[in-house]
Amino acid sequence: MVKTIFEKSVAGRKRTDIACFDGLEVVSPEAPPELRREAPLPLPEVAEVDVVRHYVGLSQKTFGIDSGFYPLGSCTMKYNPKVNEEICAQPEWACLHPEQPVETAQGALRLMYELQEALGEISGMKAVSLQPAAGAHGELTGMLMFRAYFRARGEARPVMIVPDSSHGTNPASATIGGFEVAHLESDERGMVTLDALKALCAKHGESNIGGIMMTNPNTLGVFEQEVREIADYLHSIGALLYYDGANLNANLGYVRPGDMGFDLVHFNLHKTFSTPHGGGGPGSGPVGVCGRLAPFLPYPLVAKDGEGYRFAKPEETIGRMKLYYGNFLVMVRALVYIRTLGREGLKRVAENAVLNANYIQERLKDAYDIPYYQRCMHEFVLSADRQKKMGARALDIAKKLLNDGYHAPTIYFPLIVTEAMMIEPTETESVETLDAFCDTMLRYAKEIGEDAEKFKELPNLYIQHLDEVGAARNPVVRWIPGE
Ligand SMILES: Cc1ncc(COP(=O)(O)O)c(C=O)c1O
Repeated sequence: MVKTIFEKSVAGRKRTDIACFDGLEVVSPEAPPELRREAPLPLPEVAEVDVVRHYVGLSQKTFGIDSGFYPLGSCTMKYNPKVNEEICAQPEWACLHPEQPVETAQGALRLMYELQEALGEISGMKAVSLQPAAGAHGELTGMLMFRAYFRARGEARPVMIVPDSSHGTNPASATIGGFEVAHLESDERGMVTLDALKALCAKHGESNIGGIMMTNPNTLGVFEQEVREIADYLHSIGALLYYDGANLNANLGYVRPGDMGFDLVHFNLHKTFSTPHGGGGPGSGPVGVCGRLAPFLPYPLVAKDGEGYRFAKPEETIGRMKLYYGNFLVMVRALVYIRTLGREGLKRVAENAVLNANYIQERLKDAYDIPYYQRCMHEFVLSADRQKKMGARALDIAKKLLNDGYHAPTIYFPLIVTEAMMIEPTETESVETLDAFCDTMLRYAKEIGEDAEKFKELPNLYIQHLDEVGAARNPVVRWIPGE
């Protein structure tokens, strides 16, 4: 068991104070008396070397995209080029202050302007705001803009339709944004159909429908075939279409939400466009909109005036969604990534993301059930139902992968697949990596068939089987002395 730094504490142990060196006195800076506390602070007492080893040890127990294959469906854990990190760490970007006069930050404004333009082009949208700080924040921004749009037209339209395959943040954002959520069932192909949509709209009353939130390809990795008809119908009844573009890997350079008929899209720069994520670091969830929604975008946008750049405020803006201008360094990485790859490079991202997912799907399709089997896009969902009947669930397979040095796929999502394992390899993996993963999964299927209990042993994991429900419902995230 790994001890906390407090459990390693030994009374009286501390770092070495260097008081003087060869006649040269070194003065330790001390906090001013008014900021000092009298009572001893409950800090761990450990030697410097133990502090270093403690945290280096912890860092080595974690799993990241730089340490191994990470097929976490819907999360797009792709390798992010290190040169982009170096570029965004340059002081010209990293040391900018958000309050400095715009005349002194024209390069930064230009970068933001060019990213707005590039994302508009990639998505087929008229205008883009870089403000939102993450995907779900972009969704909320979108919902508030839909509401502002309807309010300006004197309409209420309280119902937002969300397909049953949608990401969990979609119904949450619609609800927080003030809509009532109506769930739309997918058919046996894992797609939403115009007929099912019309029936749901009729049930709620067409004039009450605010819109739909869709992902395409959806979270089953399936491309929605009737998307154009769905868009035409919803527009004909006065509703709007929201595109969850958290993951644009399958679309880049091939298909644009604007061309599919969507009115608003959010992007996760931290999935598709080169910002490492998964560790809680800053993300960015810009939104792009069609012309009629542009007046409602959050401010400030960046506008170009002749050769210069300035911040601009749309006429009917919903206001600010974030302090200052969004997470700037994520924008730097995104624009560098887009510029480095260029139009053709972005298309290759989509091609390889789709190819890699299909490759794994083909290799695993006989050993595992694939309920919505068809040519997939950037990801696919298999079911470990057959394995569950033999005694090992999707959770056990996921743990076994961790035990063997892989990050696990997303499990138990989407909810419409029992014992779901959602696999997204991304475009940055080699065929050798994909083969090694497939070989491992095929070996698991065999081992489960032979002896499921033995399969569940996890000799290499520091933590074996957690009380996951307990950890989620009663998380203890703070160490309190004596407890
Ligand atoms: C399809 C989809 N939509 C929305 C989100 C929400 O993005 P974020 O985690 O940045 O809020 C995610 C990310 O998990 C996602 O995969």
